[in-house]
Amino acid sequence: MQLSQRLEVIAESITLAVTARAKQLRRQGVDVVSFGAGEPDFDTPAAIKQAAITALHAGKTKYEPTVGTPEARQAIAAKLARHNRLPYPPEQIIVSVGGKHSLYVAMMAVLNPGDDVILPAPYWVSYPEMIKLAGAKPVIVRGDPARDFKITPPQLAAALTPRTRMFIINSPSNPGGHTYHPRELAALAQVLAPHGEIWVCSDEIYERLLFGGQETCSWAALDFARWKDRTITCNCLSKTYAMTGWRIGYTAGPAPLIAAMNKLQSQMTSNITSFCMPAIVEALENPALEQEVETMRSAFEQRGELMWRRLNAIPGISCVRPTGAFYTFPGIAGLLGRPLGKAQVKAKDAVEFCRVLLEEAHVAVVPGNDFGFPDHVRLSFATSLDNINQGLDRLAAFAGVGA
Ligand SMILES: Cc1ncc(COP(=O)(O)O)c(C=O)c1O
Repeated sequence: MQLSQRLEVIAESITLAVTARAKQLRRQGVDVVSFGAGEPDFDTPAAIKQAAITALHAGKTKYEPTVGTPEARQAIAAKLARHNRLPYPPEQIIVSVGGKHSLYVAMMAVLNPGDDVILPAPYWVSYPEMIKLAGAKPVIVRGDPARDFKITPPQLAAALTPRTRMFIINSPSNPGGHTYHPRELAALAQVLAPHGEIWVCSDEIYERLLFGGQETCSWAALDFARWKDRTITCNCLSKTYAMTGWRIGYTAGPAPLIAAMNKLQSQMTSNITSFCMPAIVEALENPALEQEVETMRSAFEQRGELMWRRLNAIPGISCVRPTGAFYTFPGIAGLLGRPLGKAQVKAKDAVEFCRVLLEEAHVAVVPGNDFGFPDHVRLSFATSLDNINQGLDRLAAFAGVGA
């Protein structure tokens, strides 16, 4: 059977194999503690659900403009102006089918074969594959765990080539849990400022999940006049409002970019589900939801602190303290090649470590290989404190602590 050559450039996800096996064990009745989830364990706030239900009952079941309804774009524009200091007009916004789709359509709209895209590691698994699907090449810049995985201006400068067309920044970050302070973003921006041909794709989907007083800002807000025509600001409702299944993302940027994305998206998906449009307005404009967002954020903060503290108490593991998102990304180099668990297996890398941990201790964590760090693992703390304690008890015993 002949399939598209396009697929040959992209890799099969190792992450999926772990999650599939964890699900299989669960189906067999095994009590698996899973730290694999990339989504909030909370339900979508009731007011947002109601907005979609009302729209559905009111017959909002037909095609809408590909870019989103005027009301949804207006609500997003107002949110960006109010919360992010980004005065984009509604015409410079396009709503897509989740943050992933926003990023993918944006990359397909601006990248060409032969382009280089600078991508800090650890990175979200889909970036390199999206870059490659667009015909471009990821140029990986490795963030040092000793600097909380954050790349430095000299590292960024050293990665520039005459072919560089894009820099991707994700703050707060999946999987690192690290966040760039506005000062750190400004220092990186200084490196890129003279290079007018380079786009900055700013993935801000975890912007509301900040811990310990951490500050960050939208890239384009560093200096809107300078960056508005070169920045692709991507965001979504998935993580902030516990709406991963709704598939609502949006992009703000210069008018030609939004026109190009509209052209592409109009031949792919068209508009997002029509009766979800009023849910965007509700989520972004109902002030009562701020409290729910804060309740979720502070729960994540408490869980992240617990997980980070417990991970660092395990000899052989070292973990950066999360300042955003809902992930820890501990280094496990100290446990590789050492006898682990009852079977005393010596894991050679994170993939093997995760496999044995799941089979023996029934704890699901994700190997760092897909994120560019094969001696790290990712744990999501979008789960209860009880689960965190139980899973970390098992991990500690597996690593030989208290066993
Ligand atoms: C960094 C990052 N960007 C984008 C996305 C995609 O978000 P969505 O679920 O809205 O497609 C994710 C999802 O996990 C993510 O972690």
